[in-house]
Amino acid sequence: MAAGRDAEVMLTYCSLCLSSGHQMPLLSITHLEGHREQRMAHLALGFITMGYVWQEGEHQPVKTLPRQLAEPYCRVSEALDMPPILLYADCVLANWKLRDPAGPFEIENLDTIFKFPGKESCRGFFLVSLLVEQAACTGMEGIVMAMNSMLTQDNRGVHDGLEMMNKSLEEMKKMFGLMRKHVEPNVFYGTLRIFFTGWKDNPTLPDGLCYEGVFTRQLRGGSAAQSSSIQCFDALLGVRQVEASADSYLKDIRSYMPPAHRQLIEVLQHRTPLRSYVQSSGEQDLIDTYDKCVKALVDLRCYHLQAVTSYVSAPSKTAYRGDPTPREEKGTGGTDAFHFLKSVRDSTKNVLISPE
Ligand code: HEM
Ligand code: ALA
Repeated sequence: MAAGRDAEVMLTYCSLCLSSGHQMPLLSITHLEGHREQRMAHLALGFITMGYVWQEGEHQPVKTLPRQLAEPYCRVSEALDMPPILLYADCVLANWKLRDPAGPFEIENLDTIFKFPGKESCRGFFLVSLLVEQAACTGMEGIVMAMNSMLTQDNRGVHDGLEMMNKSLEEMKKMFGLMRKHVEPNVFYGTLRIFFTGWKDNPTLPDGLCYEGVFTRQLRGGSAAQSSSIQCFDALLGVRQVEASADSYLKDIRSYMPPAHRQLIEVLQHRTPLRSYVQSSGEQDLIDTYDKCVKALVDLRCYHLQAVTSYVSAPSKTAYRGDPTPREEKGTGGTDAFHFLKSVRDSTKNVLISPE
């Protein structure tokens, strides 16, 4: 989504108004034209809300979002069928612009539209995530190819679709590697991470956040767990979560995705018996290609676990002299991070047709 001048004007305007607190005028969403402007408003209001709630640090969140922010935010969220909290679909998927519009889609030529403190680490965290997501595009095309080919029993097409997915997963891991160059663990942990923290199962906000004049809600914080591409790969490959808590979390998090994304995952999950198709084909080449994809997905999840060690566990030890803190154990999306992520990785391994 391209950056509009309107969005920048809106943010400047809102920041000025924030300094005078509740005196900000009540904005209406009726002037927003179409989906793109609504998404831009959701993004802008998400940044402002996270900044507002966490302005005094993690132990003293603001418990009420003033009506001047709460009303337009809740209205635009309702129109988009997305919750009123900063989402992955906001800060990563919709938060970029090309520095040179005629230049390439590469990190040097990209910038974020809205920023939190943290300078290059903030820019890098959002943009590297975006590049990982972009690398998933070929895999999404592979999903469509594999699905369509299954319908006509075209095993070559299924094979080629799976190969595209495998290439895509390898590219995602490569892009993930850029995190090391652009994001500094202590800045990520100490400065940036607080702004993704949510108000569900959060002891500092036991009742959730009061959206003044609208409602009180408990909502999960931002996390790439809200990315739909990995859930699409899981759905196609037939990954089933062994732990009920991981399964219900991954289902619940779909309501934090744009509606079209969550619908796609559900279609794939309910209509695609790819694994049994491959297994019963008796074609070793097809089975090997399916297993190669599963291994690439396991590999990506192992790499992701290493990132959590570098960006969450390690800096938390320096910051708190070794005392484990709730922020270390919990992901910003509200899970018991390591337990959850290891369980999801192991459930992925389980679908290998020929485990070694
Ligand atoms: C889940 C941390 C980058 C994809 C999670 C969780 C944590 C976490 C703690 C557990 C859910 C929660 O409570 O938040 C990190 C850290 C990252 C990072 C520290 C980088 C410094 C990424 C990137 C992607 C990604 C770039 C890909 C776009 C996922 C997915 C899940 C997840 C798909 C759900 C679990 C799964 O399907 O395996 N992440 N993450 N993460 N993250 Fe990340
Ligand atoms: N979900 C990521 C974390 O917990 C941002 O650090």
